[in-house]
Amino acid sequence: MHKVIFDTDPGVDDAMALLFLHRHPAIDLVGITTVFGNASIETTTRNALFLKQAWNIPAPVAKGSGETLDPDRPHVGWPTGIHGDDGLGNIGVPAEIDLPLDPRCAHRFIIDTVRANPGDVTLVAVGRMTNLARALRADPEIARLVRSVVIMGGAFDVTGNITPAAEANIHGDPEAADAVMTAPWPVAVIGLDVTTKTVMSRAMLSDIAERGGRPARLLSDISQFYIDFYEHHVDDGMIVHDSCACVYVVAPELFQTRGGAVRVICGGIADGQTLQKPDGRLFPPNAWDDFPSQQTCVGIDADAVLKLIGDTLANGS
Ligand code: BDR
Ligand code: CA
Repeated sequence: MHKVIFDTDPGVDDAMALLFLHRHPAIDLVGITTVFGNASIETTTRNALFLKQAWNIPAPVAKGSGETLDPDRPHVGWPTGIHGDDGLGNIGVPAEIDLPLDPRCAHRFIIDTVRANPGDVTLVAVGRMTNLARALRADPEIARLVRSVVIMGGAFDVTGNITPAAEANIHGDPEAADAVMTAPWPVAVIGLDVTTKTVMSRAMLSDIAERGGRPARLLSDISQFYIDFYEHHVDDGMIVHDSCACVYVVAPELFQTRGGAVRVICGGIADGQTLQKPDGRLFPPNAWDDFPSQQTCVGIDADAVLKLIGDTLANGS
């Protein structure tokens, strides 16, 4: 069983990933922590509570960061054209959800949960890395106490999606991402190199909606706006970025990885670019030396990943 804290900015593909974690039998979802990104922190937190209520998810929701680690970074606007004004495909999420938040902020929740379960907790982070970086800053020892960190973010051997150099989750808080990549905990990075190959067709989503009961029908409704956006980028359907990171937790054998220290460029025209120094390559002294080797995903069995997502989402109705 994998104890998972899901750090998320829901977000349409985040919603799918959340239902996957909730429904997968080998995952014990112990907490949901929110971060800004696809919308403001107020909106992503409201959305997490909305999904918790709609899907009857027992895990608590802890509200996280609404600004970057470096407070002087300029604000980048919300991607309303991808996720809608409400962050969930404009389905009309109520302004307020009558459910309590965990009293702790996200990074404190992460620290407390990791310390209460040493060696057992996997952090799955599919938004900006701000909460994880704040947790590391407040309690660096937790890096030795988590089981693993799995993130959706970055673009290594492919072009970015928010600039030619950078993927959105990393670009949204590069200093935080660099802190996460260079900490002494095992990180698996699921980036655009593999997520953009993992496209769920409209037909597959509607089959899931038919088989998976009301929760899956809600997911399908939420996803239509995002699918319309992706019409110009993929042949048919939606890229399931965040669910790929969740699949990695339970089925890493469906991915090919490359080991090596990872750094994030902070500032300049390549702001937010992720660069790995592959293990075994020799260079003169450089800024990657003395940092831990992390795993970046360079290949994926996309059909098998999509099947596992579909079967899991359709189950438990
Ligand atoms: C990432 O950015 C967000 O829009 C998605 O939810 C995903 O986590 C893809 O670049
Ligand atoms: Ca996300």
